[in-house]
Parts: sequence; structure tokens; C-alpha cells
Amino acid sequence: MHVLITGAGGFLGKGLIIPFEERSDKLRLMDVASFSSPHETVIGDVADLDTVMKAAAGVEAIVIAHMAPRTNNAYDFPTKPFDINVKGTANLFHAAVKNNIKAVVLISSTSVMEYCKGDIHPHDAPPQSKGYYGLTKVCQELIAESFALEHGIRVACLRVGYIVDGDKNVDKYGRKIEERAALDTDRRDIGEVARLFLERKDLAFERFTVMSAPEAMISWDLRYTCERLNWKPKYDFSWLRLPPQK
Ligand SMILES: NC(=O)c1ccc[n+]([C@@H]2O[C@H](COP(=O)([O-])OP(=O)(O)OC[C@H]3O[C@@H](n4cnc5c(N)ncnc54)[C@H](O)[C@@H]3O)[C@@H](O)[C@H]2O)c1
Repeated sequence: MHVLITGAGGFLGKGLIIPFEERSDKLRLMDVASFSSPHETVIGDVADLDTVMKAAAGVEAIVIAHMAPRTNNAYDFPTKPFDINVKGTANLFHAAVKNNIKAVVLISSTSVMEYCKGDIHPHDAPPQSKGYYGLTKVCQELIAESFALEHGIRVACLRVGYIVDGDKNVDKYGRKIEERAALDTDRRDIGEVARLFLERKDLAFERFTVMSAPEAMISWDLRYTCERLNWKPKYDFSWLRLPPQK
């Protein structure tokens, strides 16, 4: 499969591509910041429709994994988060329709389940959040669902937990992770869930929670992801100790 991945030079992108590489998928990697890769790369802004139209030409699927950087207090104001996260997502879905691309994976976040009540968070809880980051993730999911309904694009929204590089046990900011937490999610597990969905031509619109540690099963409806996609987290952080019981 020929897949366009946005935000590919970022923390998630660098690990998300691994399962695709292992299956020898053809990748076109897009980011606004330049990065080196053996794959075809597009350096450009997702907020620019012309650039996105060119980036999407000829691919069969898109994985949307970019986000506005958190630098300079960007999330204290709506401008950058909405320009990059929301407009960028709408541009990519528009380009999908125009290029007859039939499948898209949106990297969402558990932040869209901010107001979820109950012991277990349903995988398909209506997206609701607060703050500009959470709001842009809600808007991304609404755009995704709307294009799925109106244009018949197959879409998965992956509500991912706290992303960790399971080889180095560090998060996006380089902070060392010493203890395992329920939300810990390895980048490669996210990539594998994305890949499995793209392969499943019988699935239309889906919302999945994606986490790697077994403790996630207690509060998050991870069972649905496992059963629906015949998937099991591969990088379960069993090498990290659990926090002491209180
Ligand atoms: N890091 C986490 O713990 C976490 C948790 C839940 C969800 N997510 C989601 O994962 C996705 C990736 O996040 P990340 O942590 O890898 O962030 P990141 O900042 O490391 O990567 C995002 C990438 O997007 C690129 N980008 C920024 N503006 C762009 C633009 N205008 N056009 C094209 N590319 C642009 C950046 O250059 C960067 O490489 C986001 O959708 C985020 O909401 C992350």
C-alpha cells in the first residue's frame, strides 16, 4: 500500500512508520520541518491546501499524525492549533476526496474523552474536551466522521494514550519513564493498529483506544481494539516496574 503520513518527522511519526516498513509498504512522509529518511519525503505545511493536494496525489491511504508544536505557549491561543491541527486535517480529507483516496487514519487522543464517566471509558464515547489542544482533537474527529459519512471514506480515529519510545523509555520531551503507567503507548503499537485498520476494507468508521500497558484494560475499552483488529500490544512495558501500591 502507498501511504502518506503527516507529521512523519515528529516523535510519533518516527516510530509509527516501523510496522509499515516491516510490511514493505510504500511511504510518502510529510512534515513542515526537514528530516532525513530513506523514503519519499514532502516538506510542506498541511495548512496549505495546494501543498496538501500535491502531497496526496497518487497515494492510497493517509495517516494524519501532525500537530502544532507546543513551543511559545502556542496552545494558549487558538491560532496555531486550529490552523495546523484542524485546517490541516480538513485539507487532508479534502485532498483524499479529490484524489479518490479511500482510507484515512487520524491520530486522535484520549483527551477527547475528557468528560467520560464510569469505570471504563467506551472506545466510541462522543468526543468532548477542553482547552485548545483538546478542542482541536475534537474538531479533527468531527471532520473525520463527517467525511466518512458524506464521502464514504473509511476512517479510524485512534485515541492514543501517552506516547513513549519503548526502546529508550523516554517521552516526546526526552523525559525518562521509570515506572509503568496505564496510558503508556509505544509508537510502534500505534503504527501497527493504523496499518491493520488500513488493511481491513470491511471497516467503515471506527474509534479505537490504543495503549500498550496491560493496566490500560482496567479503565479503557482496549478490548474492542484487540478483538476488532485481531491485535495485541507488542510493547507492553513489562520491563518497567509498577508504581508502589498506596
Ligand atoms: N505525544 C503524546 O504523548 C501524544 C499523546 C496523544 C496523542 N498524540 C497525538 O500524536 C500526534 C503526533 O504527536 P507527537 O507527540 O509526535 O508530536 P510532535 O510535535 O513530536 O510531532 C508533530 C510533527 O508535526 C509536524 N508539523 C507541525 N506543524 C506542521 C505543519 N504545519 N505541517 C506539517 N507538519 C507539521 C512537526 O514538525 C512535527 O514533526 C498528534 O496528533 C498528537 O495529538 C500525542
